[in-house]
Amino acid sequence: MALPSRVKIVEVSPRDGLQNEKEFVPTDIKVELVNRLAAAGFPNVEAASFVSPKWVPQMADGADVMARIERRPGTIYSVLTPNMKGFEGALAARADEIVIFGAASEAFSQKNINCSIAESIARFEPVVQAAREAGIRVRGSISCALGCPYQGEVPIESVVDVAQRYLAMQVDEIDVADTIGVGTPKRVREVMAAVTRVVDPARISGHFHDTYGQALANILAALETDISIFHTSVAGLGGCPYAKGATGNVATEDVLYMLRGLDIDTGVDFDAVVDIGQWMSAHLNRKGSSRAGNAVAAKRAA
Ligand code: HMG
Ligand code: MG
Repeated sequence: MALPSRVKIVEVSPRDGLQNEKEFVPTDIKVELVNRLAAAGFPNVEAASFVSPKWVPQMADGADVMARIERRPGTIYSVLTPNMKGFEGALAARADEIVIFGAASEAFSQKNINCSIAESIARFEPVVQAAREAGIRVRGSISCALGCPYQGEVPIESVVDVAQRYLAMQVDEIDVADTIGVGTPKRVREVMAAVTRVVDPARISGHFHDTYGQALANILAALETDISIFHTSVAGLGGCPYAKGATGNVATEDVLYMLRGLDIDTGVDFDAVVDIGQWMSAHLNRKGSSRAGNAVAAKRAA
């Protein structure tokens, strides 16, 4: 089966990776993380969230992070915006892309953003319109596309329905997200096949958490359905505060290693990413969960 020859990796560790850390990560470290990721060649770095600091205290310094990072020409710096207040913050912070984040599960929508799916769509509409008027790219994330921590199974039609609502708003990219990492390759193929019937695969990304160790296999399954954008987090950092027990996104180092083995180009410097993963893990005082990152580090130390 022909796989894409090039893949875009969106590095989400400064946002999805750090949002669930209990100890506040100093702004300086967040800024350095974003700068180092951009320098390593990622075309898109998810740098911050403009959400309620009461809901996600770790992301409270988003405006400072965005003010202090170096902007590399060509790099897209994205931020999460759940509502107009978030959008105003993103606009002031000169974000290149905003991310609206809805869910395919009613229960998760309530827990994560305190409203129903329909209410969230109504909230997103003016945000997307304002972003388009300001010339800011828009990404729409669909949480729980492969399962929900509260309602369990999520029908594929619910995922397609949210994708169609995003399309109607003219978002640029749509993230199919496995928030709690429960998906397996067969289900990923089915979900991606259904979504690609209504959305151009070039505009769909796979956002896989690795809770059940399925994320690399799921990426391969998604590649086979023509998906060529994936979200990853260095050292496998992360998790969502409103998805208890869910671990981080698939580790960037592991994905880069696999893609290199598949002769798929990403434009990212693998060795630099291993360094970033080791540095960030040392800062957080624990071993990172990237198998490839730890293997390379061990080999270097030998
Ligand atoms: P709410 O309490 O219903 O909102 O929360 P509200 O409009 O009633 O406002 C309540 C208070 O929050 C007010 O302050 C607002 O000013 C403030 P107070 O008067 O009480 O002092 N507020 C804000 N402050 C800063 N920035 C804002 C903002 N909006 C309101 N944008 C809300 C609704 C959406 C705000 C809240 O539920 C929230 O912030 N949720 C964020 C949840 C979150 O960030 N979750 C993690 C990211 S999503 C994720 O990880 C999944 C993803 O990775 C994909 C996947 O894996 O599935 C993307
Ligand atoms: Mg996530």
